[in-house]
Amino acid sequence: MDSPKSMFLLISCILAVLGFCYGAGVLPDGPLKGALGKSVTFATTIDPPDQPFVTIAWIFNVSTIIISTRPLPGSDTIGSGYKDRIFLNRSTGSLELRNLFQNDTGEYRLTITPAVGDLLTGDTTVKVYEPISGATITTSPNPPIIEGNSVTLTCDASGSIISREWMKVGQLLSAGGNMIISENKRVLSINPVKRTDSGEYLCRVSNPISTADAKHDLIVNDGPDGMEIKGPTEIEVGQKVTLTCSADSIPTASYTWMHNGTKIPGHSLELIKGKSEYFDSGDYTCTATNDVTVNNTYVVHKLSVKAEGSLSQGLSAGAITRIVIAILVVVGGAVGVAVFFIKKNG
Ligand SMILES: *[C@@H]1O[C@H](CO)[C@@H](O)[C@H](O)[C@H]1NC(C)=O
Ligand SMILES: *[C@@H]1O[C@H](CO)[C@@H](O)[C@H](O)[C@H]1NC(C)=O
Ligand SMILES: *[C@@H]1O[C@H](CO)[C@@H](O)[C@H](O)[C@H]1NC(C)=O
Ligand SMILES: *[C@@H]1O[C@H](CO)[C@@H](O)[C@H](O)[C@H]1NC(C)=O
Ligand SMILES: *[C@@H]1O[C@H](CO)[C@@H](O)[C@H](O)[C@H]1NC(C)=O
Repeated sequence: MDSPKSMFLLISCILAVLGFCYGAGVLPDGPLKGALGKSVTFATTIDPPDQPFVTIAWIFNVSTIIISTRPLPGSDTIGSGYKDRIFLNRSTGSLELRNLFQNDTGEYRLTITPAVGDLLTGDTTVKVYEPISGATITTSPNPPIIEGNSVTLTCDASGSIISREWMKVGQLLSAGGNMIISENKRVLSINPVKRTDSGEYLCRVSNPISTADAKHDLIVNDGPDGMEIKGPTEIEVGQKVTLTCSADSIPTASYTWMHNGTKIPGHSLELIKGKSEYFDSGDYTCTATNDVTVNNTYVVHKLSVKAEGSLSQGLSAGAITRIVIAILVVVGGAVGVAVFFIKKNG
C-alpha cells in the first residue's frame, strides 16, 4: 500500500464483498407496500452502465422465476404468472409488477451479471394489502338503548384490517371505567351505559395503504328525573298564575297535570290560569313520562289563593325600605325644628 488511492480501493473491495455476503445491495429495504390490483415498482440504486448487463434475474420466494434474461442475442424466460404483469428496465434492473394479487406477498431477489465487475444482488419484500372499504358500526341490543343497561358497538370492514381505533368527539377511547375494548379492538362494550355516553362514536379501520371510518350516533335514553315546578306559592284572587314543570329526560318527557288529584286536560309543561279563583288553591301535581324508558315521576306544588290586597302588591321590599327611611328623615327633621323653637321660646 503506497498511496491513499490504493487504500481506498482495498476498502471499497472489502465493503463490496461484505455487502455481497450479507445480501445488502441494490434494492431498498422492504417491505414495499402494494394495494391489491395496483402495482409496485422495485427501483434499484443502479446507475445505467456503459455496457448492457449480461443477465438480469428476478426470483420470487427463493425459487420462482419472475424474469430471467439471457446474454445477447437471447430470449427472456418469464414465469407463467407474470406474463403481461411486469416491466423490466434493462439499464437499471428496476422491475414494475402490476395487477398485484394477495399471493404476490413474499420475498424478491434480484441478481445481475454486469459486463464488468462483480455480481450485483438485492433482496426485498412486498406486502400486498386489500384496501379497506365498507366500514360499519353495529350496536347490540338494537336501539333504543336505556341507561343502566349495557351496549356493545362492533366495528367491521372488508379488506386487510391491520388496526382499529375508537374515537368519540375526536378523542381516542381507551378501556377503563365502564368501557371494555376487545383485544383486536373490534368490539367496544359499555356497561353500564350512562347518559353521558351519548354521542357520535367513530371507528377508524386502517392498513398501511388505506383507511376507512364508520360513525354511529349513540343515544342513551334516560329519565325522567330532576323534576321541579316553578311558580308562585301564594297569589291574590284575580291574578294570573303560571306554573312550569320541567324534568331531565331523553327523549323529551310528556307532561300531565292534576289539581287536588283531578286530572287537568292537556299535555303542556306549562299550566296557566288567566284569572285565579279561591278554588284554584290546593295541590298541583305534574307527572313527566318518558315513552322510551317507560318510566315516570311526579312532583307536587302547593298554591294558595289569598284575598285581594292581602299580599304586598306592587311594592318591592327595597321600595318599602326607601319609603320608611324618607318618613323617618322628615319626622326627625320636624322634631328637631320643634325642639329648637321650644328651647328658644322657653
Ligand atoms: C430505465 O431507468 C432509467 C433511470 O431511471 C430511465 O432514465 C430510463 O428511461 C428507463 N428506461 C425505460 C425503458 O423505461
Ligand atoms: C396467485 O393468485 C392468483 C389469483 O388469485 C392465481 O391466479 C395465481 O395462480 C396464484 N399464484 C400462485 C403462485 O399461487
Ligand atoms: C412467499 O413467502 C412468504 C414468506 O416469506 C410466504 O408467507 C408466502 O405464502 C409465500 N408465497 C407463496 C405464493 O408461496
Ligand atoms: C324510574 O325513575 C326512577 C326515578 O328517577 C328511578 O329511580 C328508577 O330506577 C327508574 N326505573 C327504571 C326502570 O328506569
Ligand atoms: C283544592 O283543595 C284546596 C285545599 O284543600 C281547596 O281550598 C280548594 O277549593 C280545592 N279545589 C278544588 C277545585 O278541589
